[in-house]
Amino acid sequence: KSVIARAPSSTANLGPGFDVFGLALDAYYDEVQITKNEGTQIVIESSDSVPLEPEKNSAGIVIIEMSKAFKVKTGLLVKIKKGVPAGFGMGSSAASAAAAAVAFNSLFDLNLDQNTLVEFAGMGERASAGSIHYDNVSASVLGGFVIVRTDPLDVIKIEPPKDLVLCVAIPKIAVPKKKTKVSRGVLPQQVKLHDHVRNLANAAAIATGFINKDVELLGRSIKDIIVEPARKHMIPGFDNVKKNALQAGALGVTISGAGPSVISFTSKSANHKKICKAMEKGFSSANTECITVVCRP
Ligand code: HSE
Repeated sequence: KSVIARAPSSTANLGPGFDVFGLALDAYYDEVQITKNEGTQIVIESSDSVPLEPEKNSAGIVIIEMSKAFKVKTGLLVKIKKGVPAGFGMGSSAASAAAAAVAFNSLFDLNLDQNTLVEFAGMGERASAGSIHYDNVSASVLGGFVIVRTDPLDVIKIEPPKDLVLCVAIPKIAVPKKKTKVSRGVLPQQVKLHDHVRNLANAAAIATGFINKDVELLGRSIKDIIVEPARKHMIPGFDNVKKNALQAGALGVTISGAGPSVISFTSKSANHKKICKAMEKGFSSANTECITVVCRP
């Protein structure tokens, strides 16, 4: 018996919702196929550049943990096809982890609820990020816009507005191996109450924008004065990318997840080609090329 699951790329944070907001993006997909195998080993196969040791692979870790939790002793062959670019803030390790959790659940007819699937997928994500956060995995498992409450985990899904369109610019730069860990290391450990208030107001407005299907409201609330200022030095030309995209008609612009991709929130009626060009120009002001993708949630 064999099961294939596909999980989408995602953007985390959406500005002020650090570690809390996630949005699945119909841009790239990872695919994980799990087949029952002889023996008791978990064997990973992939023609993409992923670690083949199960305990170092975000899908492998999920499968190890789920096998332990549900006392599965059969050998498993795990085939991984990477579609989500790794290390660019597009939820790559989360997509593999999510697909693994969903495939395992279905292969063994576990009927797990979504919080439990997210919890297992989060274990795989932790391996690459160095700390646990469920924003990308939740979006990858549930799709749509998600709000993650923790202790205890409680994931809320909201259907995104139909007229929300994202323009993502992925710079062609070398990213550190443990990029998420590195980009979490630059964050302030303490924040000013005044900054927290501004971010909280914007985060609440973003959630309301999703609920009311108000793209303008959610777009203009993509403003983060805590995490973005601490991370933007890691993205060449960030200020220009953002300024240009806003001038070209984007409603809100921020770092996608832990970066270095930059994401513009726009409405269906915006000129997406113009916004992509504007973002490219911003990166080229720092001698950096980028790939742009226009996608929907
Ligand atoms: N919320 C996480 C961060 C997402 O910004 O570090 C990383 O994938």
